[in-house]
Amino acid sequence: MTLDHPATRPANPRFSSGPCAKPPTFALEKLADAPLGRSHRASVGKARLKDAIERTRALLGVPADYRIGIVPASDTGAVEMAMWSLLGARKATMVAWESFGAGWVTDAVKQLKIDAEVRAADYGDIVDPASIDWNTDVVFTWNGTTSGVRMPNGDAIPADREGLTICDATSAAFAQALPWEKLDVTTFSWQKVMGGEAAHGMLILSPRAVERLESYTPPWPLPKIFRLTKGGKLIEGIFSGETINTPSMLAVEDYLLALSWAEEIGGLPALMARANANAQAIWDFCAARDWIDNLAADPATRSNTSVCLKFTDPRIADGAAFAKAVQKRLEAEGVALDVGAYRDAPPGLRIWCGATVETADIEAMLPWLDWAFHAEIEAQARAA
Ligand SMILES: Cc1ncc(COP(=O)(O)O)c(C=O)c1O
Repeated sequence: MTLDHPATRPANPRFSSGPCAKPPTFALEKLADAPLGRSHRASVGKARLKDAIERTRALLGVPADYRIGIVPASDTGAVEMAMWSLLGARKATMVAWESFGAGWVTDAVKQLKIDAEVRAADYGDIVDPASIDWNTDVVFTWNGTTSGVRMPNGDAIPADREGLTICDATSAAFAQALPWEKLDVTTFSWQKVMGGEAAHGMLILSPRAVERLESYTPPWPLPKIFRLTKGGKLIEGIFSGETINTPSMLAVEDYLLALSWAEEIGGLPALMARANANAQAIWDFCAARDWIDNLAADPATRSNTSVCLKFTDPRIADGAAFAKAVQKRLEAEGVALDVGAYRDAPPGLRIWCGATVETADIEAMLPWLDWAFHAEIEAQARAA
């Protein structure tokens, strides 16, 4: 039997989990006003950086007394800067349910060597937030990009916690509601839900995090790139656009363009609705088939950005080879790029559903997934 190709193709086949698809209205020419070749400390550059901070605050609803800084090295830079600057003052709990969270565990245990309890869950599961001791400093990932498992909400985090919450929200920010009053440190990169460039990270600090920074000096050396205080005081300039080192003004302009798009379509509610509609289209597709399922075991923890899927058909002989072959077929047809599961994750597919992805493109891609699955089942039978 030869399987027919579906009649339509997605207009944009980019479903990568980072860098993610650019906003639908993106065009390179729209970056022409970037102040290139000028100092980032000149008023034109500083104004752009401040604008990026304040429009991020407005869009995400970050409280007025929280600091927002643009820092080096994308989300990794922001998370590690927070860990190196804040941890060690009290016991820590390192929580992981996928690869990136596991990376932060390694940082704390093997590099910083702090007193830390490690709480881990397998891919598809989550550590029960109610079982965590929030009087310790807790480092966790809001949305596990490589497992498609997210925090259902922040209800388990007590308002009167003694520890700090350090939250890697890079694949959640702009697509999922973040309870700011429960988060002391929040980080993300422009390259995820906003479809920006990866050069810089965003570091958001609560007043309690600032208090820790100003009252505690970690015992380990801090490279210049991580230093948030000087003489025991917060370097306020970092949070008004005076970056520690030189930023890419082209990347900044690109982020401002993405912010404009987000503002024009209706802000955070519209961004979240787009991600929800994208993910729902995939969930509906899976619910109607008995050969594919969400990797997230509990529907309350299913990600609406990094949707991770597993093949469940008993005819599949080699899960990893099968998933790879399906991904290759989709890529070769030019209908879904970069949808392979993360290298450390269980075999399957990961389809980015963040706000910059059009639901029509998800809907046009899914019949191809049907096609690629059946084509591969046939190929496997022929080879047997
Ligand atoms: C949860 C999480 N944390 C950290 C990172 C690393 O981000 P970056 O490469 O922007 O530093 C990623 C990238 O996908 C991620 O998904």
